[in-house]
Amino acid sequence: MQKNHFESIPNHQTGILITAAGGPEVLVPVELPVPECGPSDVLIRVVSAGVNRHDVNQRRRGPDSVHSPVPGLEVSGVVARVGANVTHVGIGDEVCALVDGGGYAEYAIADAGQVLPVPSAIALRDAAALPEALFTTVHNFFNVAKLAPGESVLIHGGTSGVGTLATQVLTVLGHLVYATCGTDEKCAMAEKLGADKAFNYRTLAFAKAVLAATDGRGVDVILDLAGAAHGPQNIEALARRGRVVHLSPGGNADLSFPLRELMRKEAVVTGSLLRPLPNDEKAGIARWLHTHIWPLIGTSIKPMITRRLPLARASAAHEALERGDVAGKILLDVTGSFN
Ligand SMILES: NC(=O)c1ccc[n+]([C@@H]2O[C@H](COP(=O)([O-])OP(=O)(O)OC[C@H]3O[C@@H](n4cnc5c(N)ncnc54)[C@H](OP(=O)(O)O)[C@@H]3O)[C@@H](O)[C@H]2O)c1
Repeated sequence: MQKNHFESIPNHQTGILITAAGGPEVLVPVELPVPECGPSDVLIRVVSAGVNRHDVNQRRRGPDSVHSPVPGLEVSGVVARVGANVTHVGIGDEVCALVDGGGYAEYAIADAGQVLPVPSAIALRDAAALPEALFTTVHNFFNVAKLAPGESVLIHGGTSGVGTLATQVLTVLGHLVYATCGTDEKCAMAEKLGADKAFNYRTLAFAKAVLAATDGRGVDVILDLAGAAHGPQNIEALARRGRVVHLSPGGNADLSFPLRELMRKEAVVTGSLLRPLPNDEKAGIARWLHTHIWPLIGTSIKPMITRRLPLARASAAHEALERGDVAGKILLDVTGSFN
């Protein structure tokens, strides 16, 4: 039993399919069935979909037997149908949500616990830039690294989709934030977003720079999205009992660092994957975001949206992300994309 809007929901929709492992050209618009809405699900008519590095990596690996062949982990849009057990979301609500794939499409399914209202100070079409980066920030800094009040952080990729929001959130919450970026221009952007200092990881040894900036103490938590690139420098830049949290396995890289230094500092090197987290844990993150961060969205915390492309041009969005000239988030405009 589900509550719905039968007259306005078609049986079929257009979505972007990963047709094979390969370059952006393997992303092809196709006709697909509108997904079924289970008892705890919400069917969203998608207005905007976020593009993440994860989608690029999934496309390169190609379709598999576990994940939806339609990429996309975050959307904003209007609720079209709700499952029988869903109470806090209603048909017609403007929402944004974390989705388990399927975001690059006209309709997407989200578990109701991962659906949030569009914050009042931003537009519906912009809200798709929020879920993936904010869920990632909260889970990794607070649940995994147990970031405590007053602790400092280093965020690699300060102008990445994740980094642009993480920097703002942690700055607003009173943490001292340092960042790394691959160009001086991006370093300046990261500092505008709130980083106390941003270091160009291509032109200087960031660990030495972090130690110089912290009077030799180092930072308490490092968020690393660069695979195994910075093993020894991360340990060097950490304070005693610091934690490094990895977001990217770098393919399936082997990470190495000086063990003696890790032991001397009682450092912890860990990481996490958001997508396979149980739904109840994701719902807990959503509730925390709604209480603590949602009132600040649009005022002290703003998504950095650098490009919008129609859904049909998802491949161009992937090309841009792979060129590395993007700071912040690319969004796909879904409504009207195929009309
Ligand atoms: N584990 C999880 O649950 C989870 C969740 C979300 C994201 N992620 C991962 O986190 C990463 C970021 O995602 P995104 O969508 O925000 O990506 P994105 O916007 O494409 O950004 C990628 C970033 O990586 C930075 N980078 C590349 N090489 C680097 C290096 N050697 N040192 C420091 N920074 C480096 C780039 O910095 P420059 O452009 O300045 O060179 C860029 O800012 C991706 O690997 C993604 O798969 C994982």
